[in-house]
Amino acid sequence: MIQKMKPTTKEEQYQSLLPQIHELTKNEPDLIANLANIAAALKQTFGFFWVGFYIIKGNELVLGPFQGLVACTRIPLGKGVCGAARKERRTIIVPDVEQFPGHIACNSESKSEIVVPLFSNGEIIGVLDIDSDRLNTFDQTDAEYLEKIINCKIGNNSPHTIF
Ligand code: SME
Repeated sequence: MIQKMKPTTKEEQYQSLLPQIHELTKNEPDLIANLANIAAALKQTFGFFWVGFYIIKGNELVLGPFQGLVACTRIPLGKGVCGAARKERRTIIVPDVEQFPGHIACNSESKSEIVVPLFSNGEIIGVLDIDSDRLNTFDQTDAEYLEKIINCKIGNNSPHTIF
């Protein structure tokens, strides 16, 4: 059960969420189950417009567990924000999607976006994509905590694996 937070800073919300996600995922080895719960926990905590994962399959990113409206199923190598994050193996923050060349608009309500690469044993295996229906939603605080959440650098013990 994810605790609903009282209004507080974004950093405090992430700090509260980290151990909860650790608890949710620590005894579950299944990738899809863990990604599904992480997407739900992020949506429930922050109310983001769309939260989901794309998983690398060959030359494409294929839609994985998500929370939100129906989305594009396949993203070719290097296309869109997700493809760029995969290619560059780094988190990309987009304050205004209309200013990002090649942005893929799965929904016209999406105004800003963050995409975080998902690694397993040093290999990129997918990305976390979060869309907001407001401009300028994401910053370095989101990048820092989302990288920790999806790459398991959470909890006081040594990093566990969700894959
Ligand atoms: N906007 C993304 C595509 C995925 S949807 O936002 C869910 C992109 O440009 O890669």
